[in-house]
Amino acid sequence: MHARLAKARFLAVFFPLVLLAAAAPAQHEVTGELAQPVGALTVTPVVVVAGATGRTGRLVLEQLAKDKRYKVKALARDPAKARRELGAGYEWVAADVTKPESLVAPLRGATYVVCAIDATERSGPNGPEFVDYGGVVNLADAARAGGVRQVALISSIGVGGEGGFTRWILNTIGGDVLKWKAKGEDYLRASGVPYSIIRPGGLSDDPGGATGLRLVQDVDAFGNITRADTATVAIATLGNPAAVGKTFEVVADDQARPGAWRSAFAALKTDR
Ligand SMILES: NC(=O)c1ccc[n+]([C@@H]2O[C@H](COP(=O)([O-])OP(=O)(O)OC[C@H]3O[C@@H](n4cnc5c(N)ncnc54)[C@H](OP(=O)(O)O)[C@@H]3O)[C@@H](O)[C@H]2O)c1
Repeated sequence: MHARLAKARFLAVFFPLVLLAAAAPAQHEVTGELAQPVGALTVTPVVVVAGATGRTGRLVLEQLAKDKRYKVKALARDPAKARRELGAGYEWVAADVTKPESLVAPLRGATYVVCAIDATERSGPNGPEFVDYGGVVNLADAARAGGVRQVALISSIGVGGEGGFTRWILNTIGGDVLKWKAKGEDYLRASGVPYSIIRPGGLSDDPGGATGLRLVQDVDAFGNITRADTATVAIATLGNPAAVGKTFEVVADDQARPGAWRSAFAALKTDR
């Protein structure tokens, strides 16, 4: 618990700061098949939220619950605790992304998955290797087996490039978290499951919708964004053909009009 708190405090303070440091230029590295287009739906889409108890995941959950277009299923390692802390109004389902067998039933027949998971320790069985990488592998496999139409993965700014102080410090402190996230992204892109990969800047708990947002495809982008806006962007990719098969960074932009980002997906390049 202390290790988790220390990690959370560190990231909250240093993530936005280190993003200001320069990083070596690099391009997106993308492998795998092209995502299939998202077809028309005849039933109410079921969205499974992985990491639903987290600070971003719970906002995804709240926003989806207000949106009558979706049915929502919230994954938690400890559903009883989740119910106590976040309310019984959601359908809580037990699942641990490090345990592939726990994902099969919850994802079977689901329409979309939003993934907001994050390792709870620097190393060990719930560290980045097994959560940010292994967990995404397991989710992608279960999504493919379950016929899921799209996975929206909340990853991180800084993933996908190499070198630079920013990456060095985040990887050093975070147990190679950016490297493991990059491997998770690669697996999802190659999985054949339609996807969108959202790489938010340094996260804050400020209210969403206060500023415009900038969607870019630049592994050396830097900036911050609220968790609420990150949740909104992830949801906006669901069933959105302009967002499928794309990996992009997203940060707040004081100069941009709030909401204008919604039409920015089409200009992003499809991963190849
Ligand atoms: N901190 C930043 O500034 C920053 C910047 C850019 C991107 N990001 C990324 O944004 C995403 C969301 O971040 P956040 O701060 O909102 O995360 P968070 O509050 O730390 O929440 C993490 C979530 O992952 C879940 N989780 C951990 N291990 C799991 C497992 N084995 N099986 C299932 N669920 C598991 C946790 O559930 P439990 O309740 O069971 O522990 C929790 O719901 C993360 O991928 C993070 O790396 C963060």
